[in-house]
Amino acid sequence: MKPCVIKIGGSVLVPDSPDVDYMRRITSVLRDLNKSMVLGVVVGGGNVNSRYVHAAREMGVNQYKQDWLGIDVTRLNARLLMDSLGWSGRGVPASVDDASELIAMARPFAMGGTVPGHTTNAVAAMLAENTGARLVNCTNVDGIYDKDPSKHSGAKKLAKIGADDLVAMAAREDSRSARGHFIIDLLAAKIIARSGIEAHVVNGADVREIKKAALGKKHNGTVIV
Ligand code: UTP
Repeated sequence: MKPCVIKIGGSVLVPDSPDVDYMRRITSVLRDLNKSMVLGVVVGGGNVNSRYVHAAREMGVNQYKQDWLGIDVTRLNARLLMDSLGWSGRGVPASVDDASELIAMARPFAMGGTVPGHTTNAVAAMLAENTGARLVNCTNVDGIYDKDPSKHSGAKKLAKIGADDLVAMAAREDSRSARGHFIIDLLAAKIIARSGIEAHVVNGADVREIKKAALGKKHNGTVIV
């Protein structure tokens, strides 16, 4: 079975503070999956990051440094998850290359961001690209919609979307600012498209959905084709 990169949205794992009930459920699923496949987990920043970015903006901190704050928050979240899984002892990998080596050695890990200028979705896409892994993006909505569901009451969830259509959608939403991006940001979408990565978007709150997608089974989210 090919390896799987699972991106867990910060908003799912650490909505305001770490969600311990959720952590119990997700660690159980990750432990289970780890028995039959090689796993790499990438964790986002969530609201904690938003608060730091807000404060940093108020204090006149530039966007590059705001990105570093975000990276530190994602790494903190990743460390918490990795320690909870008992996968620690080797620290959170800081680059896609280091993480790729762990995947090659079949050693599971959780990581956050890498360098300023992108998001953990892009990190997860690069890691999947470099390791030939399936990509599962676990977010706080149940898939990708044809229109923004928070603005359009008639928005429909898409069971599948072409990678090029995803790129076009992400391009319309891209602001390149620390904090605030479409489910899959433009860079991540382009990487998925250029390498034809098998990618899935599921509601991370429902850990059964994560398991199905990771195993390549049918799920209720969106498949990027
Ligand atoms: P994310 O954008 O990936 O987390 O990283 P998020 O906004 O909480 O998104 P979800 O909830 O996981 O989907 C947080 C911030 O950290 C910086 C960016 O500023 C990003 O908005 N970051 C993250 C980087 O600059 N580089 C990275 O590799 C990762």
